[in-house]
Amino acid sequence: MSPVAQEKRWNECLRPASRGGPCVRPLIVGRQNKLKPCRSKECRQQYRKGTLHVPLRNGLKKMEKKTIGIVGCGVIGSFLAKETEKKLSPRINGIVLFDSDRTRSEGLAGSLKQSEIAESMKEVIDRSDLVVEAATGIAAREILRIALSEKKDVMVMSVGGLLGNVHFIDEFRVAGLSLILPSGAIAGIDGLKSFKIAGIQAVTLTTRKSPKSIAGAAYLSEKGIDVNAIKEETIVFDGNAKEAVEAFPKNINVSALLSIAGIGAQKTKVKIVVSPEYTKNTHEIEITGAPGKLTVKAENVPSPDNPKTSYLAALSAARALEGYFDSVRIGT
Ligand SMILES: NC(=O)c1ccc[n+]([C@@H]2O[C@H](COP(=O)([O-])OP(=O)(O)OC[C@H]3O[C@@H](n4cnc5c(N)ncnc54)[C@H](O)[C@@H]3O)[C@@H](O)[C@H]2O)c1
Repeated sequence: MSPVAQEKRWNECLRPASRGGPCVRPLIVGRQNKLKPCRSKECRQQYRKGTLHVPLRNGLKKMEKKTIGIVGCGVIGSFLAKETEKKLSPRINGIVLFDSDRTRSEGLAGSLKQSEIAESMKEVIDRSDLVVEAATGIAAREILRIALSEKKDVMVMSVGGLLGNVHFIDEFRVAGLSLILPSGAIAGIDGLKSFKIAGIQAVTLTTRKSPKSIAGAAYLSEKGIDVNAIKEETIVFDGNAKEAVEAFPKNINVSALLSIAGIGAQKTKVKIVVSPEYTKNTHEIEITGAPGKLTVKAENVPSPDNPKTSYLAALSAARALEGYFDSVRIGT
């Protein structure tokens, strides 16, 4: 076997620097791509325990351990923190939590092994390598501003906070920092990005929600709409994504993400339909363009703790964080 081919079959030995560092002859991927231990005590022990399947060069990027900051310890922040501890603990130094409601950060910290509580947003950013915003659009803008000056990576869930502030996206690119905007409660962003290369004619989002998933938005009271009095399918909003995010800042982050990935907030059309019959938060996206037509429908189970947030959004945040550490990218 040529030295280059042989090099490709090697993975890194786990022997720590204090015991001489990785061996000259590292782990070998044997027949059927199964890892075999090298002769170091550490590798043989991990092989016996069955934990040798996360060597540094096998799927996970060779990067230093990271500290993850989470701002907002509600539905998404809590799920993400627990998943991070469960799946990524070999990759992280710890989790730093901040919530403007301290009882929430304390409650979450109580259920984690590797977490600490910060006293301010600035502190959580200072102490983290990647800061995850799971709070509000206003918090997202504040985090992006501080993170740029402190040179920290950011993941934003309240994507609506980026509309009208898309300059942050270019600033992160110029600074060489990671800015992650997960797909959240929708699917189809992969197709939308591919369509964009050839040209998009139209993007339409139709969102269907139950009254309790949308109640409380100032727009509804301004328009004199009592969602709890709605008895049948009713269109409560029909406009573009910019207007949708202004009208429903807590409910329609998905339209902001579609706009950013596609043809912008003025051209992306949004319709919101409410009915007491709906038990799921449904997002139906239709994209037309040079490659053809794409229709994607997500029928989302609402989170029991916050009916405005779909379970899929929390799962998407967790997967996006895994992707941050992963050297393999599947899908567009
Ligand atoms: N991208 C998507 O598809 C998608 C889907 C669902 C929710 N979201 C957004 O993600 C965010 C989090 O959703 P959630 O369901 O976890 O909400 P949640 O209400 O369950 O939790 C939000 C938490 O943030 C805290 N918070 C509010 N402002 C804060 C601030 N300035 N600093 C620190 N903490 C603050 C609150 O006290 C609360 O604990 C919301 O803005 C929501 O609109 C996005």
